[in-house]
This record gives sequence, C-alpha cells and structure tokens, in this order.
Amino acid sequence: MKFGNICFSYQPPGETHKQVMDRFVRLGIASEEVGFDTYWTLEHHFTEFGLTGNLFVAAANLLGRTKTLNVGTMGVVIPTAHPVRQLEDVLLLDQMSKGRFNFGTVRGLYHKDFRVFGVDMEESRAITQNFYQMIMESLQTGTISSDSDYIQFPKVDVYPKVYSKNVPTCMTAESASTTEWLAIQGLPMVLSWIIGTNEKKAQMELYNEIATEYGHDISKIDHCMTYICSVDDDAQKAQDVCREFLKNWYDSYVNATNIFNDSNQTRGYDYHKGQWRDFVLQGHTNTNRRVDYSNGINPVGTPEQCIEIIQRDIDATGITNITCGFEANGTEDEIIASMRRFMTQVAPFLKEPK
Ligand SMILES: Cc1cc2nc3c(=O)[nH]c(=O)nc-3n(C[C@H](O)[C@H](O)[C@H](O)COP(=O)(O)O)c2cc1C
Repeated sequence: MKFGNICFSYQPPGETHKQVMDRFVRLGIASEEVGFDTYWTLEHHFTEFGLTGNLFVAAANLLGRTKTLNVGTMGVVIPTAHPVRQLEDVLLLDQMSKGRFNFGTVRGLYHKDFRVFGVDMEESRAITQNFYQMIMESLQTGTISSDSDYIQFPKVDVYPKVYSKNVPTCMTAESASTTEWLAIQGLPMVLSWIIGTNEKKAQMELYNEIATEYGHDISKIDHCMTYICSVDDDAQKAQDVCREFLKNWYDSYVNATNIFNDSNQTRGYDYHKGQWRDFVLQGHTNTNRRVDYSNGINPVGTPEQCIEIIQRDIDATGITNITCGFEANGTEDEIIASMRRFMTQVAPFLKEPK
C-alpha cells in the first residue's frame, strides 16, 4: 500500500501568494516527516485555482529539501510544452534525486493554458497521446525523434540517461477515451476524487478488459486513487472545515475553464461537459450541494468513517496507491494535524483488496 499527499497550491480568498507558497513548501517537508511516500504537485496557470505553473521547478526544490520522499507532478499538461524539454527535465530530476521523481501528466482542461502556450485545445487528446508515447519510448531508448502531424525534429540523444530502470509515470484519466487509450498501452491511471465507488469500479473494469485484451499483466499496473481528506474525531468539524475551503475551491475550478459554459463548443471534452450537465440536474451547481456530494464520497470525517470510504474503493477497484489532499483542513497546523491523523489512524488500518 502507498500513500501520497496532493497539494493543490490553491490561493483561498484573503491569502497572499507568499502564504500559499510557504505552505506549499512546508507541507512537502511535513509529508516526509509524517511518513507519506509521495508529495504530489499540480500545474495551473493564470488563476488562483493553483499557483504552481512549472512543476519541474517546484519538484526540484522539494526533492532538494527532502531525503526519502518521492515528489510527483500530478498534472504536467503534456500538450502545452515541447516534449523534449519535458523529457530532459524528467531525466534531470530522476538523476539528481536518485529515482525519487514521479512524472504524472494530464491532457489539460483550461482554455487559457492552450491560448497562451499556442496549442489548439481541440487537438489536446491527439497531441497528448503523441507526445506522451514519444516520451515513454525515449525513457527506454535514450533517443528521441518525431515526424508526427504535431511536431517534427531529427533523432537526438537525450541526456542525462535515466537513473531509474523504470521512471515512475502516470496520467489522469476521467473520460472513457483516455481510460481506453492508457489501457491499450498498459500505462497507469490516476482516478478523480469527484466520482463515487461505482464509477471508479466501472472505470477499472473498462481499463482491465482492454489492458488484458492487449496482453498486459493488470496485476502489475500501479494506478492511483485521489481524495479530498479531513480526519477528525469530531465528524461535524471535519465536514465544516472542508466546506469552508471547498466552496471557494470548487467555484474557482468552474471559473478557471470555459468548457462548462452552455455556449462552449470545444470538441474533445464531452465527458467533462456531461459530468457538469449531471451536476446541473442533481442541483450540484449550488456550491453547498456540490460540497455535500464531495464530502459524501471522500474521506471526510472520523478515522473510522475515512477507513470505511477508502476501503470500499480499494475493494471495488483493487487500487492500493492512495493519494489525499489536505489543504481543506484550515490553518497550516490544522492541515498537518489532519495529515498526521491520516497516517496514524487511517492508513495503517487499510487492507489489501478483498
Ligand atoms: C486528479 C486530477 C489531477 C489533475 N491535475 C491537473 C493539473 O495539474 N493541471 C491541469 O491542467 N489539469 C489537471 N486535471 C484535469 C485534467 O487536465 C483533465 O481534466 C482530465 O484529466 C482529462 O481527462 P480525460 O483526458 O480523461 O478527458 C486533473 C484532474 C484530476 C482528476
């Protein structure tokens, strides 16, 4: 079983960038102290929804400040940067940290990223698949070249060579298309925190069926489940502290992308638009109700309640790599206290899947 801490680097109303960045660093250091395996970072631009734009830079800082902690990017936005630049950064961090860097990626959802970095958002899926495949192959071969529709360059050696025999990688998958594509390659997925047990189970069934069909050993693929977490002996306190943070955070999410607007025609994001339409039908566009829904499917409550929720998902999916975000727990001290309660009162009691 593995445990991660995911830091969104969200700037809540009234906080300065300095406060957010100081906390981002201190939560990384505290993650090692309380025993997490990995500290995960997210890529966002031009919005208070997340203040960390370049995750390679952020990871380098945290790897330098820690000794045993793995540091991961849970969301390098693959199509918005040259694949060889990304690959070189991965290799450098793999070498300099002696294998403690984890390269997590996403396809991207935020229109400003695509506009500013000069990439057609409607091509995000095709470009992501092209760049990711190229990077993954190169981690094995040490060379890279491309003659694809999206980028062309001659064959070059990429340095430094890998430190790790298998550099750990993953990609967030929400839609069936991304799930299927990763399954064909036999590559690990990151599952969202805003879907319930049945959806996680269905996603894994789809993945496993296709991966097996393509000859992959599904018992060896290290998928990761993400959560929003608050552990407190007082369940109501856990719910209330999360509500305070999540109300703003979920609104910030909806404002950071334009794909939820009724008039938006961007192709390639049907899953996200459909999820939003379901939210509208269920009344979840009311932020308080969305937070109720979120609190209901995430480990927010007493240690026993948190164990029950996560164990149900472990049994349904077979995934034992668990990553929780704790920023919704109030002050920095309260956040670290909740992280500690998680690692002492929840994590040790989770069992391998039935
Ligand atoms: C756990 C998780 C982490 C994510 N991290 C990021 C991120 O750091 N940056 C970003 O632009 N998008 C992030 N996203 C959103 C993805 O870009 C995108 O919406 C999603 O993964 C695409 O799903 P699909 O390819 O299955 O359609 C994240 C989504 C989830 C569920």
